[in-house]
Amino acid sequence: MIEDLSKVRAVVTGAGQGIGAAIARGLAEAGARVVVADLNEDNARDVAAAIGERARYAKVDVRNRESVKAAIGVAVHAFGGLDAMFNNAGIAQVRPFLSITEDDFHTVIDVNAMGVMIGMQEAIKQMLAQGTGGSIVNTASIAGKQGYEPLGHYCASKFAVVALTQTAARAFGKDKIRVNAICPGVVDTNMWKTIDQGFRDNKLSTGVDEAFERFAAGAVLGRASRPDDMVGVACFLASSGSAFMTGQSLMTDGGMVFV
Ligand SMILES: NC(=O)c1ccc[n+]([C@@H]2O[C@H](COP(=O)([O-])OP(=O)(O)OC[C@H]3O[C@@H](n4cnc5c(N)ncnc54)[C@H](O)[C@@H]3O)[C@@H](O)[C@H]2O)c1
Repeated sequence: MIEDLSKVRAVVTGAGQGIGAAIARGLAEAGARVVVADLNEDNARDVAAAIGERARYAKVDVRNRESVKAAIGVAVHAFGGLDAMFNNAGIAQVRPFLSITEDDFHTVIDVNAMGVMIGMQEAIKQMLAQGTGGSIVNTASIAGKQGYEPLGHYCASKFAVVALTQTAARAFGKDKIRVNAICPGVVDTNMWKTIDQGFRDNKLSTGVDEAFERFAAGAVLGRASRPDDMVGVACFLASSGSAFMTGQSLMTDGGMVFV
């Protein structure tokens, strides 16, 4: 059973589709009020509209501090504050190791690592100003625990998310701000469509979904993940049930990586 989250005011980035949309819907179903934030404003608006009165939406580019501040401002204005920040937005690129360019590296790191850092900083500032504590949940990955070819710079960005999670947890525990991460494995979203296409473009697979299925076969629970598989743990990390947990990166991968 998921705890009642009606006291929780949340922002979820990358919530226009995929894992973020599922987390936003799940939080709202548990009673939370949620800002659906995404670079794709139309998608954010649609997800928020489908949730209904507990949701607002914001166009956000997680690389841009002012835009992140504005998304948090929507929660403060509409709901009176911020209790949970889900830094979930991310992108992936498939590049065989020797072909990762400096531009590729910056592109992925800027969204996945710098964007998470900015989201954490702005959420922490808001929570410190409120004096209420709070919960920050970053979306890392199995790629934050293991290196996978041909995803070297993506993996680097996700290791960075784990590092930022641990660092902020140590820094702000005294302020009752908890910082944790989730580590999905192979989730059936548009991101994996991009990755699967990238494998084919680089002649690392031939059939549609071949790479997806090959990776998903590594889950001992015997299937690929769906976005809804992330909802229970996301709600748990926003709830008082996880009140004595911080600095953790929880494997939510169906048993792909054991740490
Ligand atoms: N799909 C997987 O198998 C998988 C596995 C592990 C981790 N993850 C991580 O989960 C998170 C969500 O992935 P997903 O599979 O739902 O992907 P997705 O591509 O379906 O959704 C990502 C969302 O992030 C948004 N976004 C991209 N750049 C942004 C930016 N600069 N600012 C704001 N929003 C931006 C996109 O518009 C999109 O709505 C990502 O951090 C991803 O790295 C995914």
